[in-house]
Amino acid sequence: MSWHRASRPVITDHWLRSIQALVLVVLVVNIVNAHAPGLQKNPSKKYNGAGTTYNLRNIIIGRCYHYMSLHPGVGDKNCSGIWQELVDAVQRKDPCKITEEDYKHLALMAVQTIPCDKTLLWSRTNDLVHRYTKATENFITLEDTFLGFVFNGLMWCGKTFRPGMNFKCCPAWNECDHNSILSFWKMASAAFARASCGSVNVMLNGSADGDIARKESILRTVEIPTMDPTRVSEVNVWVIDDIQGEDKNSCNSKSLLELQHYIEEHKLKYSCIDNYRPVQALQCAENPNHAACNRCNYQ
Ligand SMILES: *[C@@H]1O[C@H](CO)[C@@H](O)[C@H](O)[C@H]1NC(C)=O
Ligand SMILES: *[C@@H]1O[C@H](CO)[C@@H](O)[C@H](O)[C@H]1NC(C)=O
Repeated sequence: MSWHRASRPVITDHWLRSIQALVLVVLVVNIVNAHAPGLQKNPSKKYNGAGTTYNLRNIIIGRCYHYMSLHPGVGDKNCSGIWQELVDAVQRKDPCKITEEDYKHLALMAVQTIPCDKTLLWSRTNDLVHRYTKATENFITLEDTFLGFVFNGLMWCGKTFRPGMNFKCCPAWNECDHNSILSFWKMASAAFARASCGSVNVMLNGSADGDIARKESILRTVEIPTMDPTRVSEVNVWVIDDIQGEDKNSCNSKSLLELQHYIEEHKLKYSCIDNYRPVQALQCAENPNHAACNRCNYQ
């Protein structure tokens, strides 16, 4: 009994002091957080894009070895080194403040020579262009290059104040100007355009609304300005209409003339073909009964 009496007030006092201390700590943390959001201990800011792809490391290293086995000519790539350079490019950095420069070491480890006359650039024809290169193997798109193949369809970003990747969410493609994904693809597209030579083809969508090559497209902002006019003999645009779709743009429409001007401004030679026949033949293989695929109609 006397033990209870003696100890109870001591315990209560101790608790009270603990609670006071706790309240003080909570208050201070809240005040610090409110006034310096950059110092927040919980850095998981919400972004609109998906989080880092699960098993990213294994996918990248696996695809890297796979690419080397499919294309021995690419040479000996340091696959785990490439993974490490990706991590170094983005971790402990704001995912909206990643520049092409941050991927410089990764780019160096991934250099590749592109054979002349094989480059096929594209905008707004993602599905068709890859069905086409699969069918012919005559052309190389960004997604057939080492960097494009290894990183295609993957998502990643770091955490601003902590090491490692953010698996919860990452900035979406257009969420901020210098996000980890957009800057990576600008870097990879620039490397591809810079390495291209001879005749370069560009597949555009004649059925799409608005400008045929949007001002903010990678084609206009990165690829055309990066091509070397002393090595690229011409830029040949293919305007492909959907077989079932409208013909909204063709070689002589305003949007194409404007693109021609832009290409020529960069000292590159321009040419244009409507519904390039080998591509239309592929569209017809998939829609054999369409009127445009009648042998007398398609020219
Ligand atoms: C691969 O890259 C890593 C990281 O950059 C480096 O430490 C390692 O020495 C490289 N390995 C080879 C075989 O070059
Ligand atoms: C062209 O754009 C239209 C409209 O956005 C789209 O439905 C179509 O799939 C695109 N065509 C190709 C070949 O990607």
